[in-house]
Amino acid sequence: MARLPILIYPDPRLHKKAAPVLHVDAKIRQLAADMAETMYAAPGVGLAASQVDVHQQLIVIDVSEDKSQLQVFINPEIVAREGECEGEEGCLSVPGIYDVVFRSAWVRVRALDLNGKPFELEADGLLAVCIQHEMDHLQGKVFVEYLSRLKQTRIKSKMVKHHSRVTA
Ligand code: NI
Repeated sequence: MARLPILIYPDPRLHKKAAPVLHVDAKIRQLAADMAETMYAAPGVGLAASQVDVHQQLIVIDVSEDKSQLQVFINPEIVAREGECEGEEGCLSVPGIYDVVFRSAWVRVRALDLNGKPFELEADGLLAVCIQHEMDHLQGKVFVEYLSRLKQTRIKSKMVKHHSRVTA
């Protein structure tokens, strides 16, 4: 397994749309394993392939306390949603920034598992929020884009400074 570098906002590659996975093969399973390792090391509760510059529809999530419940969603689709909730979100691609985003409170997701087998899952709470956050990444959307233009400008300049510092 390998840890993968995470793209930092406002990297334009975060805005690419991910393509559906056509074959769930060994390469995809390796990518999922590497993404899980990267997510746990960060540490974070979710990671989309877009964030590691692989533009395929794959996300990994683990919202459990003891990090024992890895969930992998390939070609995820939200087939039903209900209610609304607001919560503070953060993102491994926007380190240090947290803000409130409105999401559906409940979702039913259809996806493929690591064997290419379709499954459906109903989620609420943190898992529902996380699924929606990661699926946005696959569409090229970062959570800060729900915030005001002023906040986005501030976050961008903060990220650029942070990034030039760490790469200097
Ligand atoms: Ni994120």
